[in-house]
Formats: sequence, C-alpha cells, structure tokens
Amino acid sequence: MTHPALEPEIRPATPADEADISLVTASAFGQEGEARLVDELRSCGALVLELVAVDRDGRVVGHVAFSRVTGAGAGHRLAISCLAPVSVSPDRQRGGVGSALIRAGITALREQGEDLVLVLGPPAYYPCFGFDAELAKKVAAPYAGAAFQALALTAAARAALPIEVTFATPFEAFE
Ligand SMILES: CC(C)(COP(=O)(O)OP(=O)(O)OC[C@H]1O[C@@H](n2cnc3c(N)ncnc32)[C@H](O)[C@@H]1OP(=O)(O)O)[C@@H](O)C(=O)NCCC(=O)NCCS
Repeated sequence: MTHPALEPEIRPATPADEADISLVTASAFGQEGEARLVDELRSCGALVLELVAVDRDGRVVGHVAFSRVTGAGAGHRLAISCLAPVSVSPDRQRGGVGSALIRAGITALREQGEDLVLVLGPPAYYPCFGFDAELAKKVAAPYAGAAFQALALTAAARAALPIEVTFATPFEAFE
C-alpha cells in the first residue's frame, strides 16, 4: 500500500507559492543564495518553468526551476533551458520528490517544445533522467566538467551541436 504523504502532487508554481519556495530552497541548501537566485530569475522573466511538489496538507516540500539559456550561432534557433536549482525539504529528501519534480519538468519542457536542457549538478544524480556529460562537451558555456550535463529533447538540438550558450544574468553573480 502506498502512503499518501509519500506521493506529493507536482504542479506549476503560482505567485502564492513564492514565500514557501524560498523557505524550501533555503532549507534544502542550508543558505539563502539559491533562494535569492530563484527570486532574481523570476523577477527578470528568465524562468521557463517552475514546478512545486505539494503534500496533501498543502505544504510545499519541493521545487524546481528551469530558466532560459541563449544559444549563439547554430544554437540561436533552439529553445534551451537550464535546470537549477532543485530543492527538497530536508525532512523529505531521498523519498523520490526530487526525481518526480525533475521528471515532470522534463515532460513539461518536451510538451512546450524545448530542444535542449542543461544542468550543473552531481554527475551521479542526473544521468538517470537522461542527462549526459559527454553531450554537454558540445555546449560551450561558462561551466565545464563532469557536473555540466545536457539532455537533447529534439533532433534539432542534436543537429545544431556544437553550440555556444549564455545563461540568464542572475547566474553571473551566483557562486
Ligand atoms: C538533490 C535533491 C533535489 C534530490 O531530491 P530527493 O528528493 O532527495 O532525491 P530522490 O529521492 O528523488 O532521489 C534520491 C536519489 O538521488 C541520488 N542523490 C540525491 N542527492 C544526491 C547528490 N547530492 N549526489 C548524488 N546523488 C544524489 C541518490 O542516488 C538517491 O538515491 P539513494 O537515496 O538510494 O541513495 C535533494 O536532495 C536536495 O534538495 N538537496 C539539497 C539541494 C541540492 O543539492 N540540490 C541540487 C543541486 S544541483
């Protein structure tokens, strides 16, 4: 039998969720920087998709943000986004919430016609969603290395690589 509390609903974030999203993000990372990054990405209009995981009692227990990435050269026709940050409340981590958010996000981006998704995160976590560090080597960005991973959602994305990309401005100030 499944436990209802272990199956949060995944839905698009609304303005009413913003304070809860800040709390979840800050508690997941143990600092304020990522919560500020989400606010800045939202206020500059860079967010392509924002999802929350909500418990039956209405509590927001997880959040994922995808922001616009700009491709140069052959990449300028592609819709490219970046997954960051993804946060799950510390008391709900390792229960599948993060994976559910990421999977739902990728599905929604595919439906929206997004071509390519990038992420900078643990190389042990993201490959199970299809992210690939080898593919990301064909994406010239301020980031490189095993943590920088890419997921092509369309043939157009694969055909356009290699490309150069620029992330939304709030990432420049973020360490
Ligand atoms: C990373 C995070 C979003 C994952 O969400 P989650 O709900 O805890 O993850 P899930 O339950 O869906 O998946 C758990 C699996 O993911 C993997 N995993 C989770 N966090 C990981 C990490 N930091 N590094 C490597 N693997 C990780 C593990 O394989 C884990 O399986 P296990 O419990 O059997 O070892 C969440 O742990 C979190 O908010 N962490 C703090 C903030 C953070 O680091 N965000 C990501 C920055 S890119």
